[in-house]
Amino acid sequence: MSKPVVLIAEELSPATMDALGTDFEIRHTDGADRDQLLPALADAEAVLIRSATLMDAEAIAAAKNLKVIARAGVGLDNVDTQSATEAGVMVVNAPTSNIISAAELTCGHILAAARNIAPANESLKAGQWKRSAYKGIELYEKTLGIIGLGRIGSLVAERMKAFDMNIVAYDPYVTAARAQKMGAHLVSLDELLEISDFITIHMPRTPETLGMLSDEQFKIMKDSAYVINVARGGLIDEEALGRALDDGLIAGAGIDVFVKEPAKDLPFFKHDSATVTPHLGASTEEAQEKAGVAVAKSVRLALAGELVPDA
Ligand code: MLT
Repeated sequence: MSKPVVLIAEELSPATMDALGTDFEIRHTDGADRDQLLPALADAEAVLIRSATLMDAEAIAAAKNLKVIARAGVGLDNVDTQSATEAGVMVVNAPTSNIISAAELTCGHILAAARNIAPANESLKAGQWKRSAYKGIELYEKTLGIIGLGRIGSLVAERMKAFDMNIVAYDPYVTAARAQKMGAHLVSLDELLEISDFITIHMPRTPETLGMLSDEQFKIMKDSAYVINVARGGLIDEEALGRALDDGLIAGAGIDVFVKEPAKDLPFFKHDSATVTPHLGASTEEAQEKAGVAVAKSVRLALAGELVPDA
C-alpha cells in the first residue's frame, strides 16, 4: 500500500523529519517557486511550510488530496485560511515555537542600532579605524516603545527592562494593569511615537496593520529615534522609511522582514544607519526544532484522522 505523501516545501530541522517518522512518503520542493510547488502539491496529503510558501487559493486548488497545511512558525499570513476551510483542509501552526528567538533578535537589533555594530564591522573590515564616526548611545534610561504587547512584545519588554530602559507600549487589547505587570506603561500610539527613543513593532500582518508606520508616523517621531521591525514585512512602509532616513526624520532602523522576500536593494539599504537581516527572527536551532516538531506532531494526528489539540 502506498504511503500518504507529505510535502516539505521549505527547509525544516532534522528533528521535524524524525518527528514525522516513517509512515509517510516525504517529498521536497521549493515552495517559493510556483512552477515547482503547484505540480508537487497534486499528490500531497500534507504540506509543511514556513514563510516563503504562499498557500493561496490557487495552491490549495492545485492540491486535490490535501488534508492539512502545517506552518512551522507563528501566524498564518501566507495561508488563505478561508480557501482552506472551504476545501476542507485543516491549517495548523506553532504559535509559540519561535517567540523567544524573535524577541532576542529584536533586542539584538536594538543594541546594534544604539552602537552602530553593523556599519562599524563593515568599515573595520574594509580597513578603516573610525572610532568617532561610530559613537553610539546608551540604552540606560532611554524609552523603548513597543507596539503590540503580545507574546513577543512582552518578552522584549521583560528583556530590555534589564538595561534600565523605560518601557511604554501601545496595544488596544491589553489592559493597563496587565501592561504594568510586564513592566510597561500603556500609552496612545501617537504618544509612544512622540516620546520613544527606540520603537519596535510586534503585530500580525493584517489589512489594518499594513503600513502602520508610514510618513505621518515618522513625522511624529524624534529625529534621534530608531525603528525596529522583526515582525512582518510591510508593517513599516518601506518607501516611507526610505524617505524618513533620507530626510533625517529618524536616526536609523533595524529591519528583518520585508514586503517582498527575498528582498534586494531596497532604497533604504543605502543608509549606513539601517541594519538589515534576511528574515532571521525564527532562524535559531531551538526555534526551528520546536516549530518543526510541533507541526510534525499535528500532521501525524491530522493524517490519522485524530483530533489536533490547539497549540
Ligand atoms: C514565523 O512566522 O514564525 C516565521 O516568520 C517563520 C519563518 O521563519 O519562516
